[in-house]
Amino acid sequence: MIQDLSGEKIVITAGATREEIDPVRFISNHSSGKMGFALAEAAAGRGAIVTLITGATTIEPPAGIKRIRRAFSAEEMMLAASEEVTVATTVFIAAAAVADYRPVRRAENKIKRGAGNLVIEFEPTSDILAEISKNRHANLTVVGFAAETTDLIEHARRKLARKNLDLIVANDVSQSDAGFGSDDNRVVILSHDGALVQLPLLPKTEVANRILDALLDFRQARF
Ligand code: PMT
Repeated sequence: MIQDLSGEKIVITAGATREEIDPVRFISNHSSGKMGFALAEAAAGRGAIVTLITGATTIEPPAGIKRIRRAFSAEEMMLAASEEVTVATTVFIAAAAVADYRPVRRAENKIKRGAGNLVIEFEPTSDILAEISKNRHANLTVVGFAAETTDLIEHARRKLARKNLDLIVANDVSQSDAGFGSDDNRVVILSHDGALVQLPLLPKTEVANRILDALLDFRQARF
């Protein structure tokens, strides 16, 4: 395989975070880890040194990735990302499906069933992608995802601007043949300078390579 990412140090997040309600329950989402793992494998295959930060997943991380950190909650993932993204890192890709909210209090013991409704108060988690982007050094390229069920491009563009990203991968997760859990994905890659690449339904391995191609194109156009 062509080694066009040799010299790159890439940190990638993958999988779902889990926010605990009590010792036996949590809120999470349907991310399998496949998209983030495909990116890690593709980048390593093209010569990059890859660090994978992974939450809960339904498959094992790719065997070829040497540096893997487990981070189950959004706060654990925030800590791992802030430690792993250093001045030597050239690319940060956030493919993980991170919880936007977590319970304000995690009950120490299992919550017992009662007669009425149960109300749980939630508070926002740290926005890992926005924080990494805000504190970035000049040579770090930051790539986010946008998982949307309506107005894909509009919402993705807003996230790209709000989180100050270089590229965003807009992922329509309203259809059952793509997005969460499936082996295939259908995405649109948008860049900070307005370029747009619309991809058909493709295996996640292929989508990963197209995202990395877009990353190299973006870099070339900028310098
Ligand atoms: O894992 P798979 O089953 O293969 O599914 C792939 C996927 C659907 C999870 C993936 O392609 C995808 O879309 N990942 C992003 C999911 C998501 O959380 O999207 P979002 O629009 O809610 O978040 C926007 C971006 O901010 C994402 O890059 C996310 O990683 C990041 N984020 C969000 C919240 C938060 N607290 N911190 C973050 O860093």
